[in-house]
Amino acid sequence: MSQAPTREPVYLKDYRPPAFLTPEIELDFVLEPEATLVTSRQTFRRNPKGEGRELVLFGENQDLLALTLNGAPLPPERWRKESDRIVLLDPPDEFTLEVRSRIDPAANTALMGLYISNGVFCTQCEPEGFRRITYFQDRPDVMARYRVRIEADRSACPVLLSNGNPIDRGDLPGGRHWALWEDPFPKPSYLFALVAGDLACLEDEFTTRSGRKVQLRLYSEAANIGQCHHALASLKKAMKWDEDRYGLEYDLDLFQIVAVNDFNFGAMENKGLNIFNTSATLARADTSTDFDFMNVERVIAHEYFHNWTGDRVTCRDWFQLTLKEGLTVFRDQQFSADMHSPGVKRIGDVVFIRDVQFAEDAGPLAHPIRPDRYIEINNFYTATVYQKGAEVIRMLHTLLGEETYRKGIDLYFQRHDGQAVTCEDFVQAMADASGRDLGQFMRWYSQAGTPELEVRRRFDPDRQALTLEIAQRTPPTPGQEEKLPFHIPIRMGLIGRDGTPRRLQLEGENEPKGTERVLELTEPAQRFTFIGLEGGEPVPSLLRGFSAPVKLDAGYSDDELAHLMAHDTDDFVRWDAGQRLASNVLLALVGDHAAGRAPSTLDRRLIDAFAKSLDRAGEDPAFAARMLSLPSSSYLGQQMQVIDVEGIRFALDLARRELGRSLHGAWLAAYRANTDEGPFSIDTAAIARRSLKNLALAYLAYARDEEGQALVRTQYARADNMTDCLSALRLITETGMPESEAALASFYEKWEKEPLVVNKWFSLQAMIEDEAAPERVEHLMAHPAFTWSNPNRVRALLGSFAMMNLVGFHRRDGAGYRLLTDKVLELDRRNPQVAARLLSALGRWRRFDEHRQSLMRAELERVVATPGLSRDSYEIASKSLA
Ligand code: ARG
Ligand code: ZN
Repeated sequence: MSQAPTREPVYLKDYRPPAFLTPEIELDFVLEPEATLVTSRQTFRRNPKGEGRELVLFGENQDLLALTLNGAPLPPERWRKESDRIVLLDPPDEFTLEVRSRIDPAANTALMGLYISNGVFCTQCEPEGFRRITYFQDRPDVMARYRVRIEADRSACPVLLSNGNPIDRGDLPGGRHWALWEDPFPKPSYLFALVAGDLACLEDEFTTRSGRKVQLRLYSEAANIGQCHHALASLKKAMKWDEDRYGLEYDLDLFQIVAVNDFNFGAMENKGLNIFNTSATLARADTSTDFDFMNVERVIAHEYFHNWTGDRVTCRDWFQLTLKEGLTVFRDQQFSADMHSPGVKRIGDVVFIRDVQFAEDAGPLAHPIRPDRYIEINNFYTATVYQKGAEVIRMLHTLLGEETYRKGIDLYFQRHDGQAVTCEDFVQAMADASGRDLGQFMRWYSQAGTPELEVRRRFDPDRQALTLEIAQRTPPTPGQEEKLPFHIPIRMGLIGRDGTPRRLQLEGENEPKGTERVLELTEPAQRFTFIGLEGGEPVPSLLRGFSAPVKLDAGYSDDELAHLMAHDTDDFVRWDAGQRLASNVLLALVGDHAAGRAPSTLDRRLIDAFAKSLDRAGEDPAFAARMLSLPSSSYLGQQMQVIDVEGIRFALDLARRELGRSLHGAWLAAYRANTDEGPFSIDTAAIARRSLKNLALAYLAYARDEEGQALVRTQYARADNMTDCLSALRLITETGMPESEAALASFYEKWEKEPLVVNKWFSLQAMIEDEAAPERVEHLMAHPAFTWSNPNRVRALLGSFAMMNLVGFHRRDGAGYRLLTDKVLELDRRNPQVAARLLSALGRWRRFDEHRQSLMRAELERVVATPGLSRDSYEIASKSLA
């Protein structure tokens, strides 16, 4: 059975339609933790569009017990079995196949297929987990109608769920019972789901705009059900929003969500039966932060939106993953923007793109949003496919405008409802709805890398004309040395010297049109000349709303940055101007540190800019909190030839301390002004105030004076919600206050029964950026609450350490790299998906100094040389070394 997993890449160009269609499947489960019997009856019909005489059915991790074709056992010369599949040789044009097999959910530690989480049977099939349940073609372009019978022990599993509608149920002798489910919508196997266990249920109802009543049921372990109300409320908001904004209505009479503890990622959009990580479902003020509340709302919406963008119209093959994910992320971003503050939401999304996706694009694992090859598709659920994929949809939205974009969406559903399609099909619908040629735009799907835009400005005072010459260039990525120019929308305006927006008239136009427009860059370099600019040279406000996922260098002076911060109408540009100013100051500090000078004061420019933002903080506290946050170490590191670990730490520490000290009074005022008396509220305004309050508290703590520390102490002691509590605890540990140990101990004692809070406790300690971090993390792995079987826990400790602790993970002696590699190799045998994800932390080794490079490379080489390594980890490690 155990054979080395195949490491040959799969190529997009090799796609062929399936030889057979499978219109129907009946599944019968007799559930037992260690020996579940699965019987599947599938009907097959030769695909007129298919080729070849063979039918391939994939199957893994199961004992095949019987195989019959049209009721008769299959003679040996009619089929062959390989390690991960069976191949039927020249089967008839139409037939029924019955497969019986036995699987062991209790031994399923990879959490793909059917497994058990805290006593609950549950499934995860995307992308290729269904083959761990039964033999099946298991590719998204094979769509079948499912009928599912589940039988289980009645007391262990009172709840039996699958997709679609409940049809029938009954009791059996021996304390057992059964249920029958039927899903009227044909679906790919990756959307199949089954849940069986002892679960509590929260019920509600939603009436669609056409007046249909939909039952909503949210299931979790009984102990957690009190924390599910926010998720249910979020679901109703999402259902309403999709009707209002996209005209999309839910299509079944029942919508179910189940929350489980052990899950490889956030959640899964199985038709009519979403399965969620508890981390993306549970929310209650005392246990969850504001971030958690927003995250639950976002993920609930994301999975719900998949019902149309993913389930009703699905992907032809896994290369098209961004077709559903990029679009659905864009939709959930629109939703969150509509529910809260659009500007602040956008800035948060840009931070993620820059910190994570740009880094991915600049490293050995860079790939286009639609990759053209993969070894293990699980490695491609990335920031590029998801978030950059969403940026690509956003660019279409920007180019076409809301109304035409909606027409394109409508056309897409009109043409492709019920089909498995490609990214071309989507863009074609947009092209046809708009009458625009999107041929060049398609390069966003095939070329990797982050385009770099350089803007040269020339103002001619006599002609009152400003010329912008914009050039684009995209650095090479693995396998793509040369890039063709992209089609890039640049939303922009011009801000006059007096701070007011100028009207925009391009050379050749008869009159000015508005104060904002979208320039389209399609050539390697292009010139745009604005005329009629009385009142002197304006400051261009470019890439408003971050209208394209690019890096832009417009050569702004400090004065111009200050001007944009003060006067632009676009939240993103104002914020970005501040980030540029801060980056300039911080990078100069890193340079000083490297040159052996260690300044002890901070550039006045940054302090003044912060002072101004603090002055205006009352206008919009959530935006102010963004304006007053320094660029991350990831973002700073990307702007250096060689990532200077010690230098970044030095610069950020100094800036925080000095900002804290020099603006002490203003931080104190902001802290007080944004402290709410009275009962806790989770509304947008209250979240905004807490975000500014806790940022102010952080700067007060960084100043390391008695007053700040006293405030932190008091907040920790009195907090009635997790946001305030955790902010204070983080500051206590981060700034090394004397009560650090005691506070961590009391926090654990208070929350040890709440797994999601215990994760925060692990994560917080893993992120403390000191030299002792590797030993501390290793020590925590021996803590009784640590377990390798829960992905959330592993990510909280090892993931936080490897991804978010610059100083600790990159300690000069290589202890961090060794620790990660040792643990990833252990984990790889149990859960390759989670292991491979952690391994990508070593992927950027070439960006560090030579000493660290050689240490990181040695660990990657150790990984590649490990016998029995999973395909997942092999792909990440070998590509990182290439
Ligand atoms: N489709 C799910 C979602 O985005 C995520 C599935 C992730 N699967 C994986 N193998 N990483 O909502
Ligand atoms: Zn998704």
